[in-house]
Amino acid sequence: MIQEAQSHTQVITALHLLAAKEIDPLAQIYERFFRLCPEARGLMGHSDEPMRGRMLEQTFEILMDADLHGAESYFRWEITNHVTAYGVAPNMYDAYFEAIGQVLAEILGEAWSASLNDAWRMQVANLLADVAQV
Ligand code: HEM
Repeated sequence: MIQEAQSHTQVITALHLLAAKEIDPLAQIYERFFRLCPEARGLMGHSDEPMRGRMLEQTFEILMDADLHGAESYFRWEITNHVTAYGVAPNMYDAYFEAIGQVLAEILGEAWSASLNDAWRMQVANLLADVAQV
């Protein structure tokens, strides 16, 4: 549990570092996501930049606020919504988080330490556990 809290804090710090760099990762993240998961491009190809921005913003919120994931959470509700309303497949979440992690690592460079990488993996595993519950 302590380990989980630490990994959570590290991921929050990484997102603050990203904000401090004033680099908008949106285009890179979606490009990477669609490359890792071409079916996602099929579902989202028509979506505009503001929509993609809102989705990424919500994702960062979920990563930073533990109350937004887990049982009975906003994230679980949103996954059900995505699966039923948009036809999103659970495995697309793996590719989405992988794309975000890869792009963050590239942007943060040396600040993306081995321990931050472990923290990221732990946070993503937690979120994917929610996906598996839906
Ligand atoms: C943490 C993960 C995710 C979160 C928090 C999230 C959040 C959101 C939100 C808030 C919207 C509505 C945006 C708006 O119109 O205001 C949205 C739309 C959408 N999301 Fe996600 N999303 C996630 C992952 C995914 C994944 C993995 C896919 C797979 C392709 C996906 C596909 C879509 C699609 C197809 C729409 C609707 C697009 C449209 O109306 O044009 N999302 N998402």
